[in-house]
Amino acid sequence: MTTRKLLEMLNSAIAREMQVSVQYMWQHVEWIGVKGYATKDAFEDIAKQEMKHAESIAERLFYLGGIPTTKPDPINVGKTLKEMIKQDVGDEAKAIAMYKEIIEIARKESDETTAFLFMQILKDEEDHHDTFTTLLEQV
Ligand SMILES: [Fe+2]
Ligand SMILES: [Fe+2]
Repeated sequence: MTTRKLLEMLNSAIAREMQVSVQYMWQHVEWIGVKGYATKDAFEDIAKQEMKHAESIAERLFYLGGIPTTKPDPINVGKTLKEMIKQDVGDEAKAIAMYKEIIEIARKESDETTAFLFMQILKDEEDHHDTFTTLLEQV
């Protein structure tokens, strides 16, 4: 039996996946300048991955008896490229911390499937964090 706490955390994860999915896609749309040209594809690729994360987590939550939220966390697109990427580095760091916690709680509840799902997603978030951190050094 999944605890209410774990179900709520899965919904918090969905809210932030939807947030970053829109945030990165609008950053992809609103790019400007030479450096923006170099980063626009990364924003788009990562935005699509985040939408897939939202889907996978929602599938899992629904299977466990929860209803996926439709409300994203507050979206912060940013004005300059530096502002955008700085925001994204922070959001990825938050995801990494949150997903480590979810893995720990899922394991405590002997929910290996949820733990495994979040280990896969965590790997992507670390990649995103690495990408945005590297991009930030260049802007
Ligand atoms: Fe994600
Ligand atoms: Fe991410």
